[in-house]
Amino acid sequence: MKSINKVVYLLAFSAVTSMVACTSGGEDPGVEYAPDMYVSKGYEPMSQLEEQERSISFQDTILLINADGKTMRDPVNNTIARGQLELIFPYEPGSQEEKDRAGRELKNPLPLTQANLEKGRHYYNINCQPCHGDKGMGDGKVAAKYPPNYIPTYKSDRIKVMADGALYYAITHGWNFMGAYGKVLKPEARWQVVHYVNYLEQN
Ligand code: HEC
Repeated sequence: MKSINKVVYLLAFSAVTSMVACTSGGEDPGVEYAPDMYVSKGYEPMSQLEEQERSISFQDTILLINADGKTMRDPVNNTIARGQLELIFPYEPGSQEEKDRAGRELKNPLPLTQANLEKGRHYYNINCQPCHGDKGMGDGKVAAKYPPNYIPTYKSDRIKVMADGALYYAITHGWNFMGAYGKVLKPEARWQVVHYVNYLEQN
C-alpha cells in the first residue's frame, strides 16, 4: 500500500473514531439518525393529541382518529375484564326497592367460620370503623362530622333485620351519605364484612 494511501486511511479512521468517541457517552446518546427508529413515540394513553395528529387523509377524505382526543380507546360499554365476572352487581344504586330485591335474592356464599369473621373484622376496622365505631354503635371519630345519631347503630332493630343481601347492597353501592365500597373491597371481602356486621349486631 502506498504511504499516501496509508495516511488517507489513517486520517479517515481517526476522524470517524473521534466523531463517535466525542459525541456519545454517559447520558448523551450522540447523534442519532432517524431517531424514531430507535425510540418510538411515547403516546400517553389518556393524552390529548395535537390537532394535526388527530386526523389522517384517506382518498381525499380527512378521517378523524382519536376523535375524543385519547390515544387509548374506551372499552365498549359494560365491558368486564377477563376473570372479573363476579364484579357484576346487577342492582341499581340508590333505590330502596333494589336494596330489598338484593336482600331477597342474594345469600352470603361464605360459611360463617372463625377465619371469615376475622377477615371481616380486619376489613371492617379499616373501612367502616372510622364512622361506625369499634362495636358498630355509629360512634367512630368521623361520625362527629355527621349530625348527632345520624349514623345508625347496628344494634337497632332496623339494622338487625336487614337481610345479608341488603347489607351487601349497602356496602357495594353505599347508601345516602355513606360512600360505596364496591370498588374498594372485593366481593369476598364484602361478604366477610357482612358476617362481621351481623356479629356486631348481636355482640
Ligand atoms: C364516612 C362514614 C362511613 C363509613 C366509612 C361507612 N359508613 Fe356505613 N353509614 C354511614 C352513614 C352516614 C350511614 C347512614 C346513611 C343514610 O341513611 O343516610 C351509614 C349506613 C350504613 C348502613 C345502613 C344502610 C341502610 O340501608 O340503612 C350499613 C349496613 C352500613 N352503613 C355499613 C357500613 C359498612 C359495612 C361499612 C364499611 C365497609 C361502612 N358502612 C362504612 C357512614 C359510613
